[in-house]
Amino acid sequence: MTPDAWSKPREFRLCPSILSADFSRLGESIAVVQRAGADFLHVDIMDGQFVPNLTFGPLIVEACRKLTSLPLDVHLMVVEPMRFVEGFARAGADHVTVHLEAVPDATAAARGIRNRGLRAGIAIKPETPIERLIPVLPELDIALVMTVEPGEGGQAFRPESLERIARVRAAIDAHDLDCLLEVDGGIGPNTIAAAASAGADTFVAGNSVYRAPNPDRPGGPPDPALAIRALREALKSAGRPAKRT
Ligand code: DX5
Ligand code: ZN
Repeated sequence: MTPDAWSKPREFRLCPSILSADFSRLGESIAVVQRAGADFLHVDIMDGQFVPNLTFGPLIVEACRKLTSLPLDVHLMVVEPMRFVEGFARAGADHVTVHLEAVPDATAAARGIRNRGLRAGIAIKPETPIERLIPVLPELDIALVMTVEPGEGGQAFRPESLERIARVRAAIDAHDLDCLLEVDGGIGPNTIAAAASAGADTFVAGNSVYRAPNPDRPGGPPDPALAIRALREALKSAGRPAKRT
């Protein structure tokens, strides 16, 4: 684990998702975002059951571990996620986030993840009442508010998410909790500031990092470093993150 990414006070954190990267050049896809100042690397695990798509498992996390010192932020979109925590821990995950909808008891799930020495996250889908996340917050390192329906990259940000982000932010601040508020789905230069103003402090970005049109070379290959700078620039209009982060 890279402790400094966590000890940075009051900074927004960018978390590129390799789901949108070129897997034939995984090493370079990761190195470029690390060089560009990414804070965490987001790794999306899909099982074809919890979500329709299928991605990959611990082997790719193990490969990422060898390729980067960035904390690996593993997002499990799978049924029965607790069966896999140990395997992802061994593979080198730093954060494991499971879905509230996929576990019988989110508090127990978070404790189980932390007991394995990992940072614990709970994710919530857009249609799940946000009240269900609030009581779990004291157990969490990461509250992940999905801003699209999980399952694929490149979807449009759901604007009704802003109200949900604000509710979670209010609860984190009211109890002075030590928990990141991460958002995932449709985050790009046109949506990131609104999500930040609503209270998010940690931003997953797939397509907007790895598949963004390159303003310097129209029609040319995407430039993830330039895309990260554009996201940081867009965040400036949101001021500083709330409280702890
Ligand atoms: C979607 C995944 C996301 C995905 C986001 O189910 O959880 O992490 O990579 O991709 P973008 O940023 O393109 O919406
Ligand atoms: Zn994700």
